Amino acid sequence: MIAVVDFGAQYNLLIARRLRELGFAAEVVPFDVGPEYLERAGARALVLSGGPASVSDADILPHPEILELGLPVLGICYGMQVICHLRGGRVETGDHQEYGKRTLKRIGDSELLDGLEDPIQVWMSHGDLATALPEGARVVAETENCPFAAVEDPDRQLYMTQFHPEVSHTPQGSKILENFVRRVAKQEPDWSLETQVSATVTRIADKIGDSRAVCGVSGGVDSTVAAVLAHRALGDRLVPIFVDHGMMRDGEAEEVEEMLAGRLGLPLQTIHAGPRFLANLEGESDPEKKRKIIGKTFIEVFEEAARAQAPIDYLIQGTLYPDVIESRSVRGPSATIKTHHNVGGLPERMELKLVEPLRELFKDEVRRVGAILEIDADILGRHPFPGPGLAVRILGDITEERIRMARESDRIFIEELRSSGQYDKIWQAFTVLLPVRTVGVMGDKRTYEQAVAIRAVTSTDAMTADWARIPYDVLETISNRIVNEVRGLNRVTYDITSKPPGTIEWE
Ligand code: XMP
Repeated sequence: MIAVVDFGAQYNLLIARRLRELGFAAEVVPFDVGPEYLERAGARALVLSGGPASVSDADILPHPEILELGLPVLGICYGMQVICHLRGGRVETGDHQEYGKRTLKRIGDSELLDGLEDPIQVWMSHGDLATALPEGARVVAETENCPFAAVEDPDRQLYMTQFHPEVSHTPQGSKILENFVRRVAKQEPDWSLETQVSATVTRIADKIGDSRAVCGVSGGVDSTVAAVLAHRALGDRLVPIFVDHGMMRDGEAEEVEEMLAGRLGLPLQTIHAGPRFLANLEGESDPEKKRKIIGKTFIEVFEEAARAQAPIDYLIQGTLYPDVIESRSVRGPSATIKTHHNVGGLPERMELKLVEPLRELFKDEVRRVGAILEIDADILGRHPFPGPGLAVRILGDITEERIRMARESDRIFIEELRSSGQYDKIWQAFTVLLPVRTVGVMGDKRTYEQAVAIRAVTSTDAMTADWARIPYDVLETISNRIVNEVRGLNRVTYDITSKPPGTIEWE
């Protein structure tokens, strides 16, 4: 595999993804990974990723021996600065910030840039800059503001780019990565999701042996695909538990049971725990506190159900790449944007060993894995639904009455998206019950009732998103139906914020 050494930039995961698209196994490893791990895992090349740190920060440097393994190294952005810093070049901090599209000017022959068409547009995003190169390294491209945009040292197998080849704003970036892996590291593509699926089933079976494993399922694509994979490996030694927290959409709890137990044949156990969640949430309106209460209650309920099935040694979780990065940063949890709700905390409490078969994948890759496992398209095409459910879509207090309004408005919204053919064009859509009341007029009478926002976004991996351009006439029907059919609502607004700067959910 190609090891992507993670220095903490959000783009890092894209590096691994691009390598896999090219047919190479890629694994993201922490920045302080040791040489033993890389040798054991069969690393054939290293890509040092970008990151927010400065090389003068002695904490965020790689284990010195990983550069001595004789593996070809590609340093991207911060990764380039790391190589320069460790190999006698110079990196300067200060007035060197650069952000955006630039055009490369080639300087002589280059292995990395071989076969690319001019002009070569690249994406820069850096604070520091290399201002002197290690001995033996040669510049192969510059930009107007960056004298060392791409650098090569074939004798020492060191390759560097100050720009980011992995992002879509570097249109020929995949070719650069391919040149590095094929030409420099002499690897031939041999990885595919198909082979990965059977390898994963075998790996789960080997790892878990004759023991039993539990997993939490929600009806969402990730947990469903993880459960089906694990079921293939373990059969009835897998215990999938569905906790109905009472904040599912209208009719969704029944739908999820029918889908998982009925259509997919999983040995599902359902725990209806709505009243317990509601009691714990009473009077709480702070978003992070709500998330924490739900997470904690979820763990309690799940733990009780799992303990009743003892002995169980493993927990299977459908954690994906974006979940991994959004809740983590190289320097610890400082950059946590939202506390993602999952069964985190449970492994330690119950002394369960964690297995995360989808950890390396993005959402669209998970859908493809699902298709390889022959899970029906309508199941795989379901919009994502957050673990805490409607709780993060009911701003302010959560009461039965407010859950009803969120549910009914949401049902109407989704019905109309389906009947107008919009559902499959949209990544995710839902209504958000606002904590405000507004004045209206209905049948000559003044009303003073609650407002909802409708939110619909397009995205490929939820890391960025744009608001969906739903046709006006569809919006009109949605608005009319919500105000007319849902008691207690008198206004509908449309959220037209992209991510960033917004997030998809409102809480
Ligand atoms: P945000 O709001 O962070 O959401 O832009 C990105 C994607 O993640 C989903 N989401 C969650 N999923 N547990 C989940 O399983 C959570 O706590 C959670 N919070 C947000 C959200 O619906 C969107 O698809």
